[in-house]
Amino acid sequence: MKLQLAGPASGVGASASGWARWARRCLLTVGAGILLALTGAVGARGASPIPEGSALWFACTEQSFSGPFSLRCPLPYDPLYLQTFLNAFSRFTPENEFKMVYLEPEENRFNFALADQIAEFARVNDKTIRGHTLLWNEMMPWWLAHPLLPWNRNDLTAVMRTYITTVVSHFNTLFPGIVTEWDVVNEPLTGMGTLAWSPWEEAIGPSYIELALEDAHAADPSARLLINENGADVPGPKSAALLALATSLKTSGVPLNAIGFESHVTPDTAPTLDELVSLWRQYAAVGLDVEVTELDVGDDDGVDDPAAKQAILERYAQACRDAGNCVGFTVWGVADSYSWLGPNTNALLYNSSFQPTPAATFVHRVLSGSPLLATTDRRAGRDRQVRDIRTGGTAVQASAHARN
Ligand code: XIL
Repeated sequence: MKLQLAGPASGVGASASGWARWARRCLLTVGAGILLALTGAVGARGASPIPEGSALWFACTEQSFSGPFSLRCPLPYDPLYLQTFLNAFSRFTPENEFKMVYLEPEENRFNFALADQIAEFARVNDKTIRGHTLLWNEMMPWWLAHPLLPWNRNDLTAVMRTYITTVVSHFNTLFPGIVTEWDVVNEPLTGMGTLAWSPWEEAIGPSYIELALEDAHAADPSARLLINENGADVPGPKSAALLALATSLKTSGVPLNAIGFESHVTPDTAPTLDELVSLWRQYAAVGLDVEVTELDVGDDDGVDDPAAKQAILERYAQACRDAGNCVGFTVWGVADSYSWLGPNTNALLYNSSFQPTPAATFVHRVLSGSPLLATTDRRAGRDRQVRDIRTGGTAVQASAHARN
């Protein structure tokens, strides 16, 4: 195809002043183009989008569902669930369907029927999946967790390695590029910072964590591997222990890419912006990324304070943007009515009518790297200074969020 630059119409009306006008317009157009390119470049600098995800209850995306009873959608089918998910999020975490109780319900009998449907759903809708979770001390099959069936180290090591290798290679082979990461170990620590009890920990000992990471890496070398933990973003023994564990794994060359911070918080328990950013930068210093993996904001002592909750959802996005090594942001549910905390908890980004809250807009803009001046601390009911993402300085803004 030939590109043509259209000059002024030739012929009788093509006067000298016509050419001058045309030349001026050309100059203006080129100038505006350069300006746009420059401002675009400034806006985009250091602002690669941070993927935004949600937990997905797969059965709620379907009009009829034939999977296990316990995985049926807790609410009647509503097409807005799927629509909201597809529009608002680029990836998802199957809320329960990839847990061991469903994938290996009987020893050595794997069941990928539903999980494959979910991976296919991701593929056709151009979404990726956070695989959640390979090892956890909950939602385990009875044959593994039954207290009257203790394991010896060798047998349980074999069970663990077979499970991880089978599951991770299954998706790597059949759905390449869909399950881009795995929570290899979920909630390994107690509040005191010691290793939490699990059959794995009991029979294999602390080395189960590095063994698991190594096997997952061997089964899919391109998958990002995480340890996922709750309550480890608030200063305290758990936070310190996780940083120490992650540092020691990383410095010993164990294939660990990132730490997932679940962040099931309340306004009173949520860490401050500074606490989050400085903690996450300590992970960056040892070469690890971080992610927010299950964010929701519950009530303090049964008190629902929607404005405070919104401010905290925003705070996490801001921290994720500011830390520099935060590579994912996932909320634990598409919309409030589907939250595991119960309906109408105002815990998430979309309300029970699937309407975006102001925090949804703010979070999206922050994570996509859009310039955004400031937000209002609605909790305090007054303005406050916040970082200006574009300049790194501070700005005060009285109004609520700019809506898209
Ligand atoms: C929760 C699900 O949301 C519930 O539906 C299920 O009954 C229990 O598990 N930390 C995790 C998630 O890592 O897997 C949990 O999900 C929430 C706490």
